[in-house]
Amino acid sequence: MPGCLEAGPPPTALCALKSSCLNRGQTLVSPQPAVSVLCKAMWLYLAALVGLCYLLCWYRERQVVSHLPDKFVFITGCDSGFGNLLARQLDMRGLKVLAACLTEKGAKELRAQTSDRLQTVTLDVTKTESITAAAQWVKERVGDRGLWGLVNNAGIAQASTPNEWLTKQDFVDILNVNLLGVIEVTLSLLPLVRKARGRVVNVSSVMGRVSLFGGGYCISKYGVEAFSDSLRRELSYFGVKVAVIEPGFFNTSITNSERLMQSFQEKWDRLSLEVKQIYGEKFLASHMKRLVVLKPLFSQDLSLVTNCMEHALTACHPHTRYSAGWDAKLLYLPMSYLPTFLVDAWMYWLSSGPAKAL
Ligand SMILES: NC(=O)c1ccc[n+]([C@@H]2O[C@H](COP(=O)([O-])OP(=O)(O)OC[C@H]3O[C@@H](n4cnc5c(N)ncnc54)[C@H](OP(=O)(O)O)[C@@H]3O)[C@@H](O)[C@H]2O)c1
Repeated sequence: MPGCLEAGPPPTALCALKSSCLNRGQTLVSPQPAVSVLCKAMWLYLAALVGLCYLLCWYRERQVVSHLPDKFVFITGCDSGFGNLLARQLDMRGLKVLAACLTEKGAKELRAQTSDRLQTVTLDVTKTESITAAAQWVKERVGDRGLWGLVNNAGIAQASTPNEWLTKQDFVDILNVNLLGVIEVTLSLLPLVRKARGRVVNVSSVMGRVSLFGGGYCISKYGVEAFSDSLRRELSYFGVKVAVIEPGFFNTSITNSERLMQSFQEKWDRLSLEVKQIYGEKFLASHMKRLVVLKPLFSQDLSLVTNCMEHALTACHPHTRYSAGWDAKLLYLPMSYLPTFLVDAWMYWLSSGPAKAL
């Protein structure tokens, strides 16, 4: 290890050297104070280095791209939730927002709350003809400047039932919006984003890092993560940056507990008698209760997510991934790095099992 040999003599050796330089007959000074001074100096240098790195990162984080008012950003799913707040936030910041809403009602309400810069279009991300029309609409507006930002935000969720309770169609329904919708919208707008050397921001979830319940939602978000990773590498050749937003749980219509409980009940009602007996009414009741108990823990502050989206769109050095919310940062993300057997044990311990579990 030549690197280690070149690192210089250890502090005790330095002290020995110092003391050997003393004249014979002089009182030998204890090496202890010199060692402690050296250690203190080392800690001081280290603290200064860490502080400097932190300052540099802080400065780098705050570098903003120029000419923001000339830039167009297209956002899907702007009727409510994160998409709606982001559209209003970017509009206030002076960007040219092209907001796609699922319904004309949502579009009208958004227009009423924003400046004339913001324009809306209706878009259903599950329909190819709707995507083609929206892409043409965007092209007409951005012209030669291209599209600076594409935010794939539209999404749906279903009750977190066991996979066995679901049909193929349940999976198709969610994958069509959350994954295939993201892919088709991206492919349709990619030439315009490349022209502007812009940004693609895909909304995933912490459930795209750790799959804690059955159904298509986690699968769709794992898919968004995989799609974003390959896209990021491919588009880096053209100066396009791809960021993934991974929110924890937030209070929006997607996490509305009444709607999720209703969906849970519907899935239960259509089960065969055999499956109902295997799981039991107690299983159903405890899962329903969990939806109610967890609700107050969901964050109300949607800006934690939209600020990450805004950073991904406006910063000179956007991150590849953004974890939004305390639960994402402190619970789900660390959990995703744990060995699988520990996560399995944790989930086993937390959830009430089926009535006929072994
Ligand atoms: N809230 C959370 O805890 C959370 C956590 C992690 C990730 N996310 C993700 O964040 C994104 C936004 O969700 P949100 O929480 O803001 O919920 P939200 O308020 O329900 O927003 C979702 C938006 O997508 C729209 N939408 C639904 N189906 C669509 C379709 N086929 N085509 C186009 N738009 C469609 C919805 O329109 P309507 O309102 O008209 O139905 C709504 O505007 C989603 O991708 C979601 O998976 C949310």
